[in-house]
Amino acid sequence: MTGQNPKSKKLAPVTTLLPQIAYCHLSQVTVVGAGNVGSSLAQRIIERDLANVVLVDIVEGRPQGVALDLMQSRGCEGHNRTIVGTNNYADTADSDIVVITAGLPRRPGMSRDDLMQVNGKIVIDTVQQALKYSPHACVIIVTNPLDVMTYLAWKVSGLPPNRVMGMAGVLDSARFQTFIAMELGIPPGDVSAMVLGGHGDLMVPLPKYSTVSGIPVTELIPEHRLRALIERTRNGGAEIVQLLKQGGAYYAPASATGVMVESILLGQSRILPIAAYLNGEYGLEDLYLGVPCRLGKPGIEEIVELTLTAEEKAALQRSAESVKSAVKTALATLT
Ligand code: NAI
Ligand code: 2OP
Repeated sequence: MTGQNPKSKKLAPVTTLLPQIAYCHLSQVTVVGAGNVGSSLAQRIIERDLANVVLVDIVEGRPQGVALDLMQSRGCEGHNRTIVGTNNYADTADSDIVVITAGLPRRPGMSRDDLMQVNGKIVIDTVQQALKYSPHACVIIVTNPLDVMTYLAWKVSGLPPNRVMGMAGVLDSARFQTFIAMELGIPPGDVSAMVLGGHGDLMVPLPKYSTVSGIPVTELIPEHRLRALIERTRNGGAEIVQLLKQGGAYYAPASATGVMVESILLGQSRILPIAAYLNGEYGLEDLYLGVPCRLGKPGIEEIVELTLTAEEKAALQRSAESVKSAVKTALATLT
């Protein structure tokens, strides 16, 4: 383990102006997996001054090396957050959020589902180990295949479903947002995009609920071009895998996960597309799938049900069926 013991820094004075010493809780996030996504996420969290980070990996030296490197950047970046690298879950105790990025990324030609068996074992093991030391944490799954891994994580976690969730919709929506902004030559911040469904080829980008300064994109982009942008969004991950040839995207995935971490830690209650447990919402039951959710301190505070056209409903249903069948296989082989 390198860096500071996170527990020794758990309490800090809020202000020296008050006569009584007030203490605030210093948030701590455990990031499991010190690979591309995990290290980039750790960097985002500390550089945005959101929390201290404990980075865990199975490979000895890797999380320690990443942590030390990030610690040495603090002076230049101008923050005082700590990051600890470790192979021991005891060092993660009392984390507010546990993010699981451990597992294999896709190689060219590999589908997310190809990863299911190997990553399923990793997710089950890492969630159980992390929750032993942080039994009340919110859990965010990033490992693919996302919707299946999130379901497995929830099953073994013993947590209520609103405290276990998956990151994909924020990323898929950010990709759609990017392609819309590029198409129109406008800043991405002016675009708000919404993508529902599973994190796979059957995801459901919703142009009707995607806007530029309040104007639906359907008013600004001709249908054939929108179709091309939707296709590119669906292939957003695969396009990067093809280009990199080794591993997948990680900067945007880390940013998207950072947005979720921020909404929970700061109690922002933002409405974001998140892989959430559905229990009748959208006519779907007993699965994790990407839907708009209000995300705050307790985790998922509310699932927002949008009015969908018959075509959109059918697309969501198709996506849900594909996730359900993968979950069935995973449960039969992994639990
Ligand atoms: P990576 O290979 O760079 O990092 C994975 C890390 O997990 C490695 O450092 C490895 O040593 C570690 N690891 C493996 N087994 C472990 C275990 N049992 N305990 C602790 N650590 C373990 O991969 P990368 O690019 O960081 O991707 C990680 C996962 O995230 C992949 O499954 C990838 O497909 C997924 N992903 C999901 C996205 C989403 O939108 N949900 C977006 C991007 C990636
Ligand atoms: C992505 O969409 C690989 O799922 C990952 O980039």
